[in-house]
Amino acid sequence: MNQATFTRFDESTRDDWALIDAHFQRYQNDASRRVLEHLLRLKGDTHGYPVDRYEHCLQTATRALAAGADEETVVCALLHDIGDDLAPTNHAEIAAAILEPFIDPLNVWMIRHHELFQGYHYRTFYGLDPHAREAYREHPAYARTVRFCDEWDQCSFDPDYPTRPLEDFIPIVERVMSRPPFGETANVEGTP
Ligand SMILES: [Fe+2]
Repeated sequence: MNQATFTRFDESTRDDWALIDAHFQRYQNDASRRVLEHLLRLKGDTHGYPVDRYEHCLQTATRALAAGADEETVVCALLHDIGDDLAPTNHAEIAAAILEPFIDPLNVWMIRHHELFQGYHYRTFYGLDPHAREAYREHPAYARTVRFCDEWDQCSFDPDYPTRPLEDFIPIVERVMSRPPFGETANVEGTP
């Protein structure tokens, strides 16, 4: 039996759900490959920036790696803008949601707030307060988010920077995304 036989959940059996869970585990284990495949969608259109979003993501991750950041932070750097094509106006939510099961909640917060923190460098050109991030000065992820934006993200639009290829990051992403989701051994949240 490779598929459950029920047509409605209230007629399902334990065997059905054991089978579905086995499928889910295989699907979950392959998630990092699908995520990296999606990153390729950021290639091409630069939207007016000096480099496209794909190059920007690789460059941000290259800088984090070169600075000795831990693997989790490097993955955050690589994927932080992956939602740009699906949700241009709140793209950070996509990366935060993808990584949330596998990383420190403070890093999830960092990804979620990176756009506001990044705005320190350009919000003034939109008539907005560049210091808006100061509202979070007491937050435990404030310092790491400032570093992420100031040292790696905002400066990664350089076409001449020796950016590492995606291949260098694949094993790192696989290691982080193969952690037990939310530190658990079983995931019933993945079911509909
Ligand atoms: Fe970015």
